[in-house]
Amino acid sequence: MTDGEFIRVQQFVKERIGVDLSQKRTLIEGRLEPHLARKGFHDVTEYMRFIKNDISGKELEEMLSILTTHHTYFWREPVHFELYRNEVLPYLKNKEKNSKDLRIWSAATSTGEEAYTLAMINMEFFGFEHSAWDTKILATDVSTKVLEFAQRGIYSEEQVDALPGQWKRLFFSKNQNGQFEAKQELKNQVLFRQFNLMNPLPFRKPLHVVFIRNVMIYFEEETKKQLLQRIVDAMEPGGYLFVGTTESVERDELGLEYVVPSVYRKK
Ligand SMILES: C[S@@+](CC[C@H](N)C(=O)[O-])C[C@H]1O[C@@H](n2cnc3c(N)ncnc32)[C@H](O)[C@@H]1O
Repeated sequence: MTDGEFIRVQQFVKERIGVDLSQKRTLIEGRLEPHLARKGFHDVTEYMRFIKNDISGKELEEMLSILTTHHTYFWREPVHFELYRNEVLPYLKNKEKNSKDLRIWSAATSTGEEAYTLAMINMEFFGFEHSAWDTKILATDVSTKVLEFAQRGIYSEEQVDALPGQWKRLFFSKNQNGQFEAKQELKNQVLFRQFNLMNPLPFRKPLHVVFIRNVMIYFEEETKKQLLQRIVDAMEPGGYLFVGTTESVERDELGLEYVVPSVYRKK
């Protein structure tokens, strides 16, 4: 890949989804070159031309999927889920006792583990009262590939290993290949939708909880700042914001109150 091609690819990715790959030449080359060879493109220039003319948008999707990281797992960063169960849900159960409507968003959800973890906590927390509540989680990602995987909801034994045995029995069924498939009742608790975080947020009602973890690390500071402002604007006062445990936010500027590291509330 020439210097010019590398610059074109990384600028294109940044414009489309905000992900900054300017320091990731090895990653771009290591992932894109074998892909181009598989698909029979001679060079990046030819490939980029194809993407720009492909009105189906499929190849663009595939390219972005190849160049971004989708790594995730069940019960990732447990401190968040414990706080969600022990503090956030009791607060919301009381606050929304009349509407019984919770608006929870798992942004950049990847293959579903984060959203399903939240859904299982919701179901366990509300118990027999759960059917009276709408606790459905909106789970979005820019990649339809990961969303298709999430919707299928089929995970290996290793992938569900971090979950309590009781949850595995209650919320999954084991198929002939020994894989764990989310039961319909769990799948019904998550609405998977494609959404690019660079676009205006689509919410009409303010959000109670936002999980936006391990994606903003790939954005430039200014992109991250603007996105966070839009997210905070879309939240309810008192609503909870969870970012990855290695991430930080300018809480004063954004009008956020500190709860524990990487968890904030809108003032
Ligand atoms: C590392 S995963 C994080 C998954 C999960 N939130 C977690 O913490 O385990 C990052 C995800 O962000 C998605 N992503 C990257 N840029 C995005 C954008 N502009 N809009 C929406 N999703 C994006 C990627 O497709 C990927 O699935």
